[in-house]
Amino acid sequence: MPEPFAHEKGRLLFAGPVDFVKGVVAMSGLPAPDRVEVCFAGRSNVGKSSLINALTGRKTLARASNTPGRTQEINFFALGAERYLVDLPGYGYAEAPLAVVAKWQALLRDYLAGRQTLRRAFVLIDTRHGVKAVDREILTLLDRSAVTFQVVLTKADKVSVTVRDETIAQVQDALTKHPAAYPEIVLTSSEKGDGIETLRAIIATLV
Ligand code: GTP
Ligand code: MG
Repeated sequence: MPEPFAHEKGRLLFAGPVDFVKGVVAMSGLPAPDRVEVCFAGRSNVGKSSLINALTGRKTLARASNTPGRTQEINFFALGAERYLVDLPGYGYAEAPLAVVAKWQALLRDYLAGRQTLRRAFVLIDTRHGVKAVDREILTLLDRSAVTFQVVLTKADKVSVTVRDETIAQVQDALTKHPAAYPEIVLTSSEKGDGIETLRAIIATLV
């Protein structure tokens, strides 16, 4: 689809209704797989919930917080009548009680590996930190599950151009090892709005 049309489609889609559907704590609680969905995965505190709020232009739709481990359920948001946006609990967070973390990490993995209607997983990477070992584990899981994933760099407003370019190069290199990777990286700032229109267009044109 030509760029301007994709952007317009994205704008219209996200200008329409977005509603919280439910928070899920077990695979049995997932909504019926009757529409296309995209999810936001990434290390704890990387900015998943903030990105959903920026995309939807609703500041408090997804609970964002300074406290890592804020999102502990899989949260489903209905975007229009044909799509779900899925906010996932962060991974790589070790401060909460071990049993609790183990439970939500297992759910996260089951979801990523087994959700048939999942069209794309956006894997968020902090532009300051690049791809870490825990990210690689998730990327490998997505490869094995044949879930196409796309890297979204977050908090771009917090880095210099030099650091940004170093991170992009590091991520590009990491992606060459992952067959399920979509090659285009999206640089974003939920704070400043960078990359938000692009991401809306990508989500709007996935079928
Ligand atoms: P968990 O649910 O705990 O896994 O975290 P999360 O990935 O949902 O992160 P969340 O959106 O809660 O954001 C974590 C912190 O980063 C918050 O203090 C946000 O305000 C901040 N943050 C998120 N995105 C940006 C951004 O683009 N720029 C800046 N400067 N801060 C951001
Ligand atoms: Mg969150």
